[in-house]
Amino acid sequence: MPSLKVNGRVYDVPGSADAPLLFALRNDLKLNGPKFGCGLSQCGACLVLVDGQPVRSCVTSAGAVEGQEITTLEGLGTLENPSRLQKAFMTEEAAMQCGYCINGVILRAKALLDQNPKPSEGEVRLALDGNLCRCGAQNRMVRAVLRASREP
Ligand code: FES
Ligand code: FES
Repeated sequence: MPSLKVNGRVYDVPGSADAPLLFALRNDLKLNGPKFGCGLSQCGACLVLVDGQPVRSCVTSAGAVEGQEITTLEGLGTLENPSRLQKAFMTEEAAMQCGYCINGVILRAKALLDQNPKPSEGEVRLALDGNLCRCGAQNRMVRAVLRASREP
């Protein structure tokens, strides 16, 4: 039974420590921000932050991140009070086409802006390169990240 610190709260999760972190978050804690896409570390839909670093939760065991700070999309903001990045994606640039990949894209962007608050367009494109989007919203996503960086 791993003990996980998620979005500032500590939970004793009932599943095995060997189970994927993604299952602990979605099934046990009912946090549905992280998505099951490929399950093979290929798409980025399951991304969470662990101590501020992007981690693919489908291939990370829950036990491997005990004691570390886990942040899911729910930890960034709410519908009523979205974070700067969420607002840029949801409304200003309308960059959320499917809602499936977007979890990983926003968390990847947060990790980037935390390290590099004023990235160039090229740096944003490079950071988002590992997060797959199948529906052509990538340019809007890049604009959303740049907008959030320019207009805190
Ligand atoms: S579901 Fe984890 S990388 Fe695709
Ligand atoms: S917006 Fe999610 S796959 Fe394109």
